[in-house]
Amino acid sequence: MSVEKIFRDSILNLITIYQNEGSNNGLLTAKALDKIRDKTPNLKKNSNDELSNIFDSYISKKDHILAQQIKEISNYLPWERSSMGGRIDEDLKKEFIQFVLLGPTGIFKSNDYEVGILMQMPNIDYPARKHPAEETFFIIGGQGYFSKNDEPEVLGQVGDYIHHPSMVSHANRTENHHIVWSWRWSGDISQESYYKYK
Ligand SMILES: [Fe+2]
Repeated sequence: MSVEKIFRDSILNLITIYQNEGSNNGLLTAKALDKIRDKTPNLKKNSNDELSNIFDSYISKKDHILAQQIKEISNYLPWERSSMGGRIDEDLKKEFIQFVLLGPTGIFKSNDYEVGILMQMPNIDYPARKHPAEETFFIIGGQGYFSKNDEPEVLGQVGDYIHHPSMVSHANRTENHHIVWSWRWSGDISQESYYKYK
């Protein structure tokens, strides 16, 4: 199967995921993805496969079909390490890889919705943070623990949705397992706001 076909199939899976989220912003995100699903992405094979190899090494048949599709084409995706808008330091930055599918910096441009894929390594605390965008994680690989405000932690596993309203403080951590999620953002998704409010 061609890289483009697998890429399009992965977008179809994301559309289903957000249609099933049970929220209006999930439905609107699914509609935004529906508009790009037949567009041809500008995908080039990466000259350096360090980040895609990290992703591939963690994904197995136990993970969501979307994670397996991403693994099949991982060396064509624009993986990056991010400082998360200055929220994490250089050492912690090495513990995450991600790419943006849809959004201001995505493979496809949008100023209204953002969708991306993130992997967090085992035994890592991603400290409490907040941002104006309203956010949902859908877990597609591994597992981890999530908290918001002072509520008790919950275990998130493949198939779970983790929702964060705008400006609600949220944190998460992994134990002896990696975690992979797709994130979606709605509302004020601007980079200026992400950098401004921490
Ligand atoms: Fe967040």
